[in-house]
Amino acid sequence: WWDHVCPAPKDPITSVTEAFLADTSPHKINLGVGAYRDDEGKPVVLQCVRDAETKIAGSDFLESVSSAVSSRLVEESVKLVYGRDSDVIKEERFAGVQALSGTGACRLFAEFQKRSHPESRIYMPDPTWSNHHNIWSDAKVPERTFHYYNSDSKGLNFAALMDDVKNAPDGSFFLLHPCAHNPTGVDPNEEQWREISYLFKVKNHFPFFDMAYQGFASGDLDRDALSIRIFLEDGHLLACAQSFAKNMGLYGHRVGCLSILCNDKKQAIAVRSQLQNIARAMYSSPPVHGILLVSTILSDPNMKALWTKEVKAMANRIRTIRTTLKGSLEQLGSSLNWEHITNQAGMFCLSGLTPEQVDRLAREFHVYMTLDGRISMAGVTTGNVSYLADAVHEVTKF
Ligand code: LMR
Repeated sequence: WWDHVCPAPKDPITSVTEAFLADTSPHKINLGVGAYRDDEGKPVVLQCVRDAETKIAGSDFLESVSSAVSSRLVEESVKLVYGRDSDVIKEERFAGVQALSGTGACRLFAEFQKRSHPESRIYMPDPTWSNHHNIWSDAKVPERTFHYYNSDSKGLNFAALMDDVKNAPDGSFFLLHPCAHNPTGVDPNEEQWREISYLFKVKNHFPFFDMAYQGFASGDLDRDALSIRIFLEDGHLLACAQSFAKNMGLYGHRVGCLSILCNDKKQAIAVRSQLQNIARAMYSSPPVHGILLVSTILSDPNMKALWTKEVKAMANRIRTIRTTLKGSLEQLGSSLNWEHITNQAGMFCLSGLTPEQVDRLAREFHVYMTLDGRISMAGVTTGNVSYLADAVHEVTKF
């Protein structure tokens, strides 16, 4: 039955973790996967999550979650992106469903896009998170890319981005990263978002936001939703995938939300039923434990305030370590410009290292990152930053 089946290509991100785990060196550093680590390099369980665990322990929830809990998760999640007092929430003009983290939310949307607009394509930024390609390809939605990153300036190629938005056929679907772009760490500024939103309006494009790192760019959850709020102000219908994998440290629990804005409540009910229908055939319903944790935290003012503080602390640690890494490379006398380490924001830095340099870092220095040179800054700690700077300097000096 399976003689013709060849091994699948390795995933560019999870294969880095595999290589790291197989390395026995005490110096090894994992800068691959974008999951938060503390300054000791350890995964973190947030205190708000511990508090929520205590609160839900022993409750009668193992078989299924009531629709009340799942709607609480959705209601609280959408407030985080659209704003507590947003009209779309008051008027119930959104179709929201819980999803298997950000990946699951993207996959549900891609499937819904295919079913509701069978001839459509998806425009993705170049580059984007590697899994975006798999997700839309599995949903049989053809992909196009739009310019995003300027590898010379290591910043945004705004003029080329705007040209591509202008030249795409009217009414195209676009995938946007609202903050902390993965893998570049480069986001448009407020003025640029306003211009993008305006042009989307003129072109009648549909914006789909993948919000995987809310809080990690600025340390402030509302500030990180500014791009989406600008699109809202301009009256766009839009959709948003949300993940609590990173900002609540719940990667293993797969908690997320997909919301699609609609013209009115009736339309929202129809769209939501289609999303539930897609999910039912794919996986029926998501696991319950993580949903309870997140909805408990978001609906309890004290726990939510604690979470907000903990998100800020994670973002601050990453910001500080960016400065230290840049400073260490400068101190070593590197003749290269490392400004982008601190100019870029969020979990990632697109370092500019070539695939050959990345390969040398792994082979000679036990430092692991994806082949595109993306550094997951959460893997850098006060304990390993000077070893890392030495290694990077060694492979980049002439
Ligand atoms: C990443 O880009 O490393 C994260 O989004 C984790 C993942 O699932 O790929």
